[in-house]
Amino acid sequence: MGLTLAEKIIKNHLVTGEMIKGTDIGIRIDQTLTQDATGTMAYLEFEAMGIDRVRTERSVAYIDHNTLQTGFENADDHRFIQTVCKKHGIWFSRPGNGICHQVHLERFGIPGKTLIGSDSHTPTGGGIGMLAIGAGGLDVAVAMGGGEYYITMPKIVNVELQGELQENVSAKDIILEVLRIMSVKGGVGKIIEYTGEGIKTLSVPQRATITNMGAELGATTSIFPSDENTLEFLKAQDRADAYTELKADDDAVYDEHIVINLSELAPLAACPHSPDAVKSVEELAGMKVDQVCIGSCTNSSYADLMKVAHILKGKTVADGVSLAIAPGSKQVLNMLAQNGALSDLIDAGARILESACGPCIGMGQSPNSKGVSLRTFNRNFLGRSGTKDAEIYLVSPEVAAVSALTGVMTDPRAYADGYKVDMPEHFLINDNMVIEPASVDEMDKVEVLRGPNIKEFPKTSGMAQDISASCSLKVEDNITTDHIMPAGAKILPLRSNIPAISEHCFTVCDTEFPTRAKALGSSIIVGGSNYGQGSSREHAALAPLYLGVKAVLVKSFARIHRANLINAGILPLEFADENDYNNIDLGDNLYIENIRDQIAAGNGITIINKTKNVEINTKCALTERQKDIILAGGLLNYTMMNK
Ligand code: F3S
Repeated sequence: MGLTLAEKIIKNHLVTGEMIKGTDIGIRIDQTLTQDATGTMAYLEFEAMGIDRVRTERSVAYIDHNTLQTGFENADDHRFIQTVCKKHGIWFSRPGNGICHQVHLERFGIPGKTLIGSDSHTPTGGGIGMLAIGAGGLDVAVAMGGGEYYITMPKIVNVELQGELQENVSAKDIILEVLRIMSVKGGVGKIIEYTGEGIKTLSVPQRATITNMGAELGATTSIFPSDENTLEFLKAQDRADAYTELKADDDAVYDEHIVINLSELAPLAACPHSPDAVKSVEELAGMKVDQVCIGSCTNSSYADLMKVAHILKGKTVADGVSLAIAPGSKQVLNMLAQNGALSDLIDAGARILESACGPCIGMGQSPNSKGVSLRTFNRNFLGRSGTKDAEIYLVSPEVAAVSALTGVMTDPRAYADGYKVDMPEHFLINDNMVIEPASVDEMDKVEVLRGPNIKEFPKTSGMAQDISASCSLKVEDNITTDHIMPAGAKILPLRSNIPAISEHCFTVCDTEFPTRAKALGSSIIVGGSNYGQGSSREHAALAPLYLGVKAVLVKSFARIHRANLINAGILPLEFADENDYNNIDLGDNLYIENIRDQIAAGNGITIINKTKNVEINTKCALTERQKDIILAGGLLNYTMMNK
């Protein structure tokens, strides 16, 4: 039987287990990436392991999230990451060099390699044929130390693209269509593999827009073959030697098959507050717009911004609209500067931002209250923009640009002529913003600089025999990591300071939670389905850990967050009978007896609700390795014990 492309890469990297769907496998990791908001913690964890030098082929640290420097914290974090990288063999991409996924695609991505990154949009690398997976910082730290990365062997979904996009319909509309079909839960436990004649019409950056936002499906990752378009991109980046042709076997067998005819697609928009709440732009046309933001790791390539510049050239942004543009990398920004397109953007009234995540992570440009913001980004969760009552719509660069001019949601097919951007023969290459690590001989001379914002990784002890805890919080379905650990300019700088950042944990849902959880000492959070969807941020596990949360009991989990809870040593439990969700209320006294024995036995965990006098059966499907991690009090303790 033939193999899919994802299966081929997994097979080449398999260290532990067999490629049986639904079972745990450990794979060798060739490359890692971190961004600063998760990176500080990942490097503190790496240091705690006591390993001198990274053992991957390539590890890169990017500074792109917390680039706003309104106090010393972010600058201190950047300096810590820069020095810790220099010492331990990690390449360092300076602030201003661009968004991690965009730069990694341009300068480091290699078809057929495995990449894990402490950022949920790491699957962007699938656009160049990598098996690229978002993970927690601790997983990345372990991989940098040469350890395997564990996933459940996913199902493989084939999305077959037929036909060709019409003018002013874009790659963003393809992934929005996939989201419409599959929903934000539809990709859980799956890899999305793109095939079909239609892929030949898509460049690597277009493919990367699609694999990037595959994260919103909850998928393990998404991947495109490596073909002549990949070679063209790599050649233009002066990296033709990184090319290998890669595709699925002709007789590959997929678990699901979806067909999308690109010729029939129309511009789409994801409506507030979920990336799968997709409607056609035609349906929404005429809605007043207050703000337009163009950029992010989804849509800030050279071609994206050239299209925007073409639409804006010689025109003026509508009176009532604030237009902000953040080019994805220094390379993109510099090319726009050299060919004059930057001048077209500035001339039209765009506010040009640094090449960084910026408004995508709530770092500036929060919309006005009740404002309607059209963004080319990948997430529109409530409050992520920094304005709680703002309405965020996710759209293509074409829709964003024309709507910025008209002041209302506008279908670009009716407004702008089609404009095709050819792949440049040569991108403007200058890696002077990437700092090489010190050589092995020189590494001991490097001093790691720590400011007062750098606090140690919280120490934990092994799982107790019995747990007596109260329900410190009860939440609904689809809780995101933005609910658990909000971002924004005030909170993000505290990412390397767990005690301080914990004060903001869950405050979007319940301002009293941090104080209550701390006072209880030991507690359990209860939630609905798809708990923890969204980003890879491990602070959404580390902050509850610091506040004394011992277990999270929900109807179902999102993949990365569940893994992060296990890594933190927090027990992830699911209701055996979802109706039992109604048998626990805030403040109830919960008791788990002989928990270590129950974990080891693997038949689920029984919780006694002493307040209501009922027994609640839960599922706790842990692999043997995960059981050991939980019993050890988290992945760091486990790794140290097994070093
Ligand atoms: Fe940055 Fe937003 Fe992407 S925070 S990495 S641009 S999802």
